[in-house]
Amino acid sequence: FVPVLTIDGPSGSGKGTVSRLVAARLGWHYLDSGALYRAVGVAAGWADLDLADPSALVRCAFDTQVEFRENGAGEPRVLINGLDATDELRTETAGAAASAIAAIPEVRAALKDRQRAFRRPPGLVADGRDMGTVIFPDAPHKVFLTASAEERAERRYKQLKDKGVSVTLDSLLREILARDARDAQRAVAPLRPAEDAVHIDTTGLGIDEVVERVLQWVRR
Ligand code: CDP
Repeated sequence: FVPVLTIDGPSGSGKGTVSRLVAARLGWHYLDSGALYRAVGVAAGWADLDLADPSALVRCAFDTQVEFRENGAGEPRVLINGLDATDELRTETAGAAASAIAAIPEVRAALKDRQRAFRRPPGLVADGRDMGTVIFPDAPHKVFLTASAEERAERRYKQLKDKGVSVTLDSLLREILARDARDAQRAVAPLRPAEDAVHIDTTGLGIDEVVERVLQWVRR
């Protein structure tokens, strides 16, 4: 039996950073499921596919090769069909494409086995939205991370400011509220916590505090 820790939550809850750190501390593998959806979105863009053509996107989900590996400096890189697309994956365009294709049930089904294949000894930390509910329902450890919309907007604001992007906090907050509503209401895989997930509200908590809480939960 290979243990899995699922970490689900809305964007801006800090799940990406927390999941990576927790995986490193445990010495477990890490699955960034959002990156898989993003990769299919990017590959669809490269192939000039219509985001309103589900059958083409499903084919693209099956055909797109995604590799997670570290470069010489130990930084995580993502290769799509053999090409380093790490930076392109993080763009808003890739996020929007990911969110559109993630609403297609056949795309989700196409990516299911690929996600489950990450479950290898000694264990896996799986980061996403449906890790505890759909992909690894038998996971012994499930966490649902949240944070207030204001805090998530502020985190995003700081990230963007550090990158030199000029935006207003207000517009980011509106975007986050709209995305929350869309994610909660979408017919396919709406964001919801697994019944057996522990909820951790990260509002006002530093990354290290969240990592410690998650580790405590795993080691309980
Ligand atoms: O952190 P953020 O939500 O911006 O991005 P992400 O985790 O990389 O996921 C990108 C998009 O893929 C999300 O907006 C979701 O719509 C979708 N997604 C999903 O449906 N299921 C997952 N397990 C992961 C991501």
